[in-house]
Amino acid sequence: KKRILSGVQPTGNLHIGNYLGAIRNWVEMQPQYDNFFCVVDLHAITVPHDPKVLAQDTYNIAALYLACGIDLNYSTIFLQSHVTAHSELAWLLNCVTPLNWLERMIQFKEKAIKQGENVSVGLLDYPILMAADILLYDADQVPVGEDQKQHLELTRDIAIRFNDRFATEENPVFKVPEPLIRKEGARVMSLADGTKKMSKSDPSDLSRISLLDSPDLIKKKIKKCKTDPVMGLAFDPERPECNNLLSLYAIFSGKSRDEVALECADMGWGKFKPLLTDATIKALTPIQNKYAEIVREKGYLDSVLKDGKEKADEVASATLLRVKKALGFLVG
Ligand code: TYM
Repeated sequence: KKRILSGVQPTGNLHIGNYLGAIRNWVEMQPQYDNFFCVVDLHAITVPHDPKVLAQDTYNIAALYLACGIDLNYSTIFLQSHVTAHSELAWLLNCVTPLNWLERMIQFKEKAIKQGENVSVGLLDYPILMAADILLYDADQVPVGEDQKQHLELTRDIAIRFNDRFATEENPVFKVPEPLIRKEGARVMSLADGTKKMSKSDPSDLSRISLLDSPDLIKKKIKKCKTDPVMGLAFDPERPECNNLLSLYAIFSGKSRDEVALECADMGWGKFKPLLTDATIKALTPIQNKYAEIVREKGYLDSVLKDGKEKADEVASATLLRVKKALGFLVG
């Protein structure tokens, strides 16, 4: 079986962008692959963070993976910080990757502007740690949202350059991974502004729908979301909010875009919003019920993560050894 690796940062709760751009695809694909899903807690400290909430956020995300349908028969769930090879490979890659490759990263530039003088070295280095996450597992495919495309290209460049310089026939070192970005849901936009992507770091909670939002809160957020004054609804690139909301409706209701275009062509927002609200609540309720079950079962998640660590460690250590040999370290 081919291998998949992907991950989410434990910074706050998951929103429907994370779900539709990433996790939903993981769930659909998992039977055909050998899967590793990681909660990337080391990435969460690249921006200022609160130590009091990191552990809880990490737990919540791991529980949400299961609640969304990640199945342990097909998939391994683990925490990045439990497998020390991630930090170690990141260091090794740091030393053989040109600095200007990192300075070009759009996400770094965007986040760095917001933080001014407090930007950490870790924020710049973040894509190297991500490359380590992926390359350690010899991943064939990396299912992510559109915003991770540039990081995936960098990961490929790092792997190719490393192999060129250090790999041999007996020790080919890295598999070069492919990004897997689905068209539908790859870029869910903010409810407050259809030209900005939905984001965990947006200061306004009304800009996103979290997977654990109550039905009342979902209703309120959709009621207040930004729309436009044009008559009739259509998938129109000139109407970012309308486009986004119709796309969400199509995905959550399971209807095709053509069906939705036809159904909503003559509708106003007053009629459409309750439809979107119902479809969203219907899609999220089973996830929320399962989540409640998982967190009720004390100790269960700990045992899942312990098993996951063991399985991940085995694969990651083998790769790390190949890298160390290739670089000329004395390996025992
Ligand atoms: P993160 O935690 O920001 O997001 C997790 C996943 O959700 C996707 N996503 C979206 N998809 C559609 N619309 C949106 N508005 C939206 N917002 C987020 C992201 O593309 C991602 O797939 N660097 C990564 C985490 C990471 C990782 C990895 C991913 C670390 N190591 C190795 C894959 C493989 C990140 O910050 O994702």
